[in-house]
Amino acid sequence: MPETWTAVDDHITGLLLPADPALDAAQEAARAAGLPPISVSAAQGKFLHLLARIHGARRILEIGTLAGYSTIWLARALPDDGRLITLEFDPKHAEIARANIARAGVAGKVDIRVGRAIDALPALGPEGPFDLIFIDADKPSTIDYFRWALKLSRRGTVIVVDNVVREGKLVNPAGDQSAEAMHGFMAWLASETRVTATALQTVGAKGYDGFVVALVESPEV
Ligand code: SAH
Ligand code: DHB
Ligand code: MG
Repeated sequence: MPETWTAVDDHITGLLLPADPALDAAQEAARAAGLPPISVSAAQGKFLHLLARIHGARRILEIGTLAGYSTIWLARALPDDGRLITLEFDPKHAEIARANIARAGVAGKVDIRVGRAIDALPALGPEGPFDLIFIDADKPSTIDYFRWALKLSRRGTVIVVDNVVREGKLVNPAGDQSAEAMHGFMAWLASETRVTATALQTVGAKGYDGFVVALVESPEV
C-alpha cells in the first residue's frame, strides 16, 4: 500500500500543487544541509495553508520549524499585517529556515525564535492570543505544548498537532517513545473539556500518520 499512497500523493500534487520555486528550493536546501526529511508533505502544507485562510488567521504560532517548509505555507495564508512566530531548538535548522523564509518573501511576517520551545512559550503571552497554533516538535513534549497553546488561545483558536498516528503505533506504542507520547497525549486530550477535537489519519508521501485538529471552546479552566 505505501507505493499506492505515494502514487496517489504524486497524482494529487501533479494536479493541485504546481511547482513552486520557493517551496521547492526550501526542500532542496533542507536536503542539501542534511536535515531530516520530516516536513509535512506538499498536500498537507497546503491543507494547513487553507485551514489558516478559512479561519482568517492573523496570528499564527508554530512549534517546530525545521527548514521552514510548513512555516512558508502558513505565512502565505496571512494578511499583510499578519504575524507568525515559529519556535526551533536547533540553530542550524533555524538558519536554513531563515534563508528559505526570506527566499519565499515572507520574512517580514515571520519571527523565528531559537531555543527550547518550552523556554520560549511562557514569554509569548503579549504576542497572543493566536488564531492558529501548529504543534510539530519533539513529540514527548506534546502535552506540555498543548497546555501552553491553550494559555495562548482565545475562544475559537484552532490547534493542529502533527504526527499523532505514527504508522498506527498510536494504538500499540510499546517501545516507541514518540508513539507512547502520542498515546498519552490522546488520552489526555479526551478528558480536556476546553476543546472540541478530532484526529484524522493520513497516508501519502510521508507514510502513514495523522493529525489532531482542535477548536478551543474556552481557554479558561
Ligand atoms: N514543522 C516542520 C517540521 C518540524 S520537524 C515542517 O513540517 O516543515 C520538528 C522540529 O522540531 C525539528 O526542527 C527539531 O529541531 C525541532 N525541535 C525538537 N525539539 C524541540 C524543542 N524542544 N523546542 C523547539 N524545537 C524543537
Ligand atoms: C518526525 C517528526 C515529525 O515532525 C514528522 O512530521 C515526522 C517524523 C520524527 O521525529 O521522526
Ligand atoms: Mg511533523
